[in-house]
Amino acid sequence: MIDNFIDRSQTNAEKYTLREELFGTSDVIPLWVADMDLRTPEFIFEAIKKRCEHKILGYEEIPNSAYEAQIEWVRSRHGFAMKKEWLYYSHSVVASINLAIKAFSNVGDEVIVQTPVYPPFFHSVTNNDRKVLKNPLKIVDGNFTFDFDDLRSKITSKTKLLLLCSPHNPVGRVWKREELEELAQICLENNIKVLADEIHSDLIYKPNKHIPFASLSKEVENITITTYGVGKTFNLAGMAISTIAIANEKMREDFERVYESIHFAQGNTFAHIAFEEAYSNGQPYLEELMTHLGKKIEKLQKALEPFKDQISFNSPEGTYLALLNCKKMNLKDKELRSFFVKEAKLGLSAGISFGREGSGYMRLNFAVSSKLLDQVIEQLVKALNERNSVIRKDKLGSF
Ligand SMILES: Cc1ncc(COP(=O)(O)O)c(C=O)c1O
Repeated sequence: MIDNFIDRSQTNAEKYTLREELFGTSDVIPLWVADMDLRTPEFIFEAIKKRCEHKILGYEEIPNSAYEAQIEWVRSRHGFAMKKEWLYYSHSVVASINLAIKAFSNVGDEVIVQTPVYPPFFHSVTNNDRKVLKNPLKIVDGNFTFDFDDLRSKITSKTKLLLLCSPHNPVGRVWKREELEELAQICLENNIKVLADEIHSDLIYKPNKHIPFASLSKEVENITITTYGVGKTFNLAGMAISTIAIANEKMREDFERVYESIHFAQGNTFAHIAFEEAYSNGQPYLEELMTHLGKKIEKLQKALEPFKDQISFNSPEGTYLALLNCKKMNLKDKELRSFFVKEAKLGLSAGISFGREGSGYMRLNFAVSSKLLDQVIEQLVKALNERNSVIRKDKLGSF
């Protein structure tokens, strides 16, 4: 069921409507925006239809039962027990990040961002007149990890907040306990709060395990703001609903001053329903989804194997995003993007858009049907073969 191809081109799907503007053509398969071309769970549509039978759509609050469903989901999946009073509704995780920056730092303060990373992380910092303190991830044994020495050397008295992407978009890492513990230790020692964006935390491939940052210890819980969302896991981004969890009471007071100033709290009737349904009944859907995504990774790996001297990627530990390492193609970032758009007719996210450290990479969203992925692979393989034959001819010509 999940594998059925659904044509989104006639809807207002952002990945389609912005194609022309972004890629200069609509003749690309869009694989950039991080939502899925896979169906949203049927039981959510059923619940929304049922609500439509009641003919009034007045003001509504997100019900306690929805928060309880999330608490139980996070407890049973990730072993982390939250309390109802920690949770705030937000229409978007990016909005929550902006609110946290306002609440837990002042104009001119530094906020740590671990690049390459989801671009709104650094935009949220600069848009609020704070300074981005870049702590780029480093590559060890072919895998991205934190650079603690770099972090320690850069922290100043102005460093107030660290934006942690866990699991990490775009590098696909699911951080290990030891990695998170060392990061937490540095933050505790330096009085730095942590915003842990855990929106991708349900999309984990075995045997990896998501460790909620706030679950590391009581001390860590006390410096953490966690953002959660159902948008990725259940393909509900269009519903615009997510939550923020803050355990520390004093931090909640500081947060509420900012939160209340923008009158955020009400939300949308259908989003409330979708949110509660997803967390109450979403387990079988998620299992089917992860099986599907696992197969897509295998397929992509197999298809790209003959081209590994040009493109390779580490199987993501989490997320439905593959960060293709194209450095061996020896192309400048503009040329690389142009190869994907003009030759392969694929609309990927350029690695460079995640920060300078993303140079030479392209991010491909593989949360699509088998039918669409087959087409993507066909176009990419054809473009790579054509490129190779031109390179071969050029080499022969130079003798
Ligand atoms: C790490 C991360 N945070 C937040 C978001 C967006 O969340 P929202 O749509 O709730 O603002 C994304 C979307 O790609 C993401 O990858």
